[in-house]
Amino acid sequence: MTAYKLNVNGTILSVDVAPETPLLWVLRDTLELTGTKFGCGQAFCGACTVHIDGVAERSCSTRVSTVGESKILTIEGLSGDGSHPLQRAWLEAQVSQCGYCQAGMIMSCAALLATNRAPSDDDIDEALAGHICRCGTYPRIRKAIHAAAKMTAEMGRDAGAGTSAAITPRAGAASGAPTDDARFTANVATGTASPTAGAPRRAPTIDTLVQLDGGAL
Ligand code: FES
Ligand code: FES
Repeated sequence: MTAYKLNVNGTILSVDVAPETPLLWVLRDTLELTGTKFGCGQAFCGACTVHIDGVAERSCSTRVSTVGESKILTIEGLSGDGSHPLQRAWLEAQVSQCGYCQAGMIMSCAALLATNRAPSDDDIDEALAGHICRCGTYPRIRKAIHAAAKMTAEMGRDAGAGTSAAITPRAGAASGAPTDDARFTANVATGTASPTAGAPRRAPTIDTLVQLDGGAL
């Protein structure tokens, strides 16, 4: 076990865990911040997405020993009272179905809006290419992001910032989905069962995923 001091949602918290422990488990099991979900555990689905220094990253594949003094923002830190434009837009558009993927979706959307205040549908598709929603909420997500962007413009507020988010990506941090993630979603779009080494990077559009979900919405 090793002692770490983590900056989570603007508070410095001490944890004593093994260095290889995924940040996801530290958040959920040690700090009891269970808003961040476990889906695949392999950086494929996006359910575990949090911000690390303002960048949307997969906490399931981030070892706690690599976080250092970076600022971690979870869904609990986006706003204390649900007043963040994305949270309000999510409710107004009734995006959530089972809700399992939604915290990760919202965190990636917050990172998108922090750097792009008026994202196009293509921008949204790109930002969410590594997220899987079994309930097929993609059209409502698009609608909610556009609404949040509009709300933010009217409020003059930074939609990406939570209680502690720094919106400048840390040096060397990857800004997109992991390569395996992109492979997986490309395989979902083509109906291939599992990730394939060397598969071309082709993110599915939301429309494609909706079709695969049988037009659930
Ligand atoms: S649980 Fe981390 S990407 Fe699926
Ligand atoms: S709302 Fe059910 S998995 Fe996305």
